[in-house]
Amino acid sequence: MCGIVCYVGHQECSGIIMDGLSRLEYRGYDSAGIAVLHEGNIAVARQEGKLSGLVTRLNESPLPGKMGMGHTRWATHGRPSENNAHPHRVGSVVVVHNGIIENHLELRAELEREGAQFSSETDTEILAHLVSQTLSKEASLKDAVKRSLERIQGSYAIVVMNESSPDELIVAKNASPLVIGMGENEMFAASDVPAILKYTRDVMFMEDGEMARISQSGVELTKLDGTKVNREVKRITWSHIQAEKEGYKHFMLKEIHQQPTVIADTLRGRVSIEGSGVATELMGFDDATARRIRRIVLIACGTSYHAALVGKYWLEKLAQVPTEVELASEYRARDPLIDPNDLVIPISQSGETLDTMEAIKIAKAGAARILAITNVVDSAIPRASDGTLYTHAGPEIGVASTKCFTAQLAALYMLAVHLGRRRLTLTKDRARELLENLLRVPTLMNEVLKQEDRIKQIAQDMANSRDALFLGRGLSYPIALEGALKLKEISYIHAEGYAAGEMKHGPIALIDENMTVVVVMPNDDSLKRIVGNVQEVMARGGKVVGIVSESDVESASIEMERIIIPDCAPEISPLISVLPLQLLSYHVADFKGTDVDQPRNLAKTVTVE
Ligand code: G6P
Repeated sequence: MCGIVCYVGHQECSGIIMDGLSRLEYRGYDSAGIAVLHEGNIAVARQEGKLSGLVTRLNESPLPGKMGMGHTRWATHGRPSENNAHPHRVGSVVVVHNGIIENHLELRAELEREGAQFSSETDTEILAHLVSQTLSKEASLKDAVKRSLERIQGSYAIVVMNESSPDELIVAKNASPLVIGMGENEMFAASDVPAILKYTRDVMFMEDGEMARISQSGVELTKLDGTKVNREVKRITWSHIQAEKEGYKHFMLKEIHQQPTVIADTLRGRVSIEGSGVATELMGFDDATARRIRRIVLIACGTSYHAALVGKYWLEKLAQVPTEVELASEYRARDPLIDPNDLVIPISQSGETLDTMEAIKIAKAGAARILAITNVVDSAIPRASDGTLYTHAGPEIGVASTKCFTAQLAALYMLAVHLGRRRLTLTKDRARELLENLLRVPTLMNEVLKQEDRIKQIAQDMANSRDALFLGRGLSYPIALEGALKLKEISYIHAEGYAAGEMKHGPIALIDENMTVVVVMPNDDSLKRIVGNVQEVMARGGKVVGIVSESDVESASIEMERIIIPDCAPEISPLISVLPLQLLSYHVADFKGTDVDQPRNLAKTVTVE
């Protein structure tokens, strides 16, 4: 976790760094800090809490200078506090770091024996001590950083600055992201592209095991062993405006409303109705391989895991490939059986989640083929995979994932149809029908968004609840899980998602007049049975909110709150029925006044175990 930005160039840099940090706050926000070099001295300002605290402090006492670095933190080692905030300074050296130094205890004990005095509880300060110590023995800052990194085990993206090296920053990366931005007589580096997009679109993505010397005049990129690296400069086509709120109260609300466009973008140029097919340019395998696949293993965390659960229904039904769904953290906790004819699909909006990344390594070691579904281009997960099906959702800033979830669903659906055609489990006509239904999703989503006022009324009542239960069957079961996750993430109301058929085996005991039960019940084969579950809840005094299809007559006589979704083909219902749940959670949280975009204790990208 954590966000890093650094700058060297001809402009005053503290504003540039703070602006970059504000676009990285989604990576962590428990403390922040900045260091700027001016006339041979480095000044450091750090502050516990959100970035706004540091902004106020810098307004009162500005830091002049044209080279510097900043950091927004999500605590791993050491509680959130000013002392533990980055940058960490030892002597003339300052360091910012994203990642975890695994051998920090040994190194700290060793450094303390040698007389080092620590001012924080962090693992990062060790690196500052090592560089400071090594600097006296090495000819250059880069060499000192290199020697120090040789002693470190773990993950890092770092920036190092030294008072007596007035025109250079040293950056290095291993298992945490770092991108270099190239401007005119100015250079940047950051954890993620939006941080620097206002200033440059030309970027270079660093790979693991690389370091760079960045100065006003350019970048020298090498491997840790000093071998020169020539990396292609990429031009980013989306603008920083796309990463801003565009008039919505929160990023999450904006992202919910973007979904019709996002789905259209994810499908654009890939779905061919005439050919009843899906373009496969980046999937990394040919038709013969598609036919050889014996099993699919979907691996993910959080919301992406719920997308995987939906994907299993589609892949088994449409492509008839046995499919398993794994939580990445559990997959890596055992010795999974892997076959070279397995297709392993890691799903991750950020493309960086550490557990998912580690699961890929295990699957690769078993010679499985890896096809990633990711939103962030060139992030760690696609780079480690044989192919990638990108979701084109644009940057997602709200910590609770919404548009990336539905974009993942669209990608999985396309994949299932594609494999179904290749494996001849779908006729051309059936594939065409399925794709036509998929292309209707943006229009249907717009219909759901028109229900927002009604959803808001229901949310106002729900805002006083202590607990909520979400039920669904079949394709709606993962949607119930996702509805419960959204509500607990942002409103802090205790919520559980359950397969409606399992209600009798436990949750029914919780039902009384204080329990709100949200039931996802679109018109499909399960409707009759789930109406039975609704009646069981009502009989025990529970309050029911039903997500029901427009033409539903099955539940017409039941006196419950209703959120109406448009009629649609059963296969695409997850893409439609999740929207009311996202809006419901959003408005409940907004009524409660919680920090919707940055809920407590959570982070957008989880690069720790
Ligand atoms: C964090 C985020 C969730 C996300 C999960 C998996 O918990 O808060 O929104 O679903 O990580 O992230 P990924 O980037 O791998 O999809």
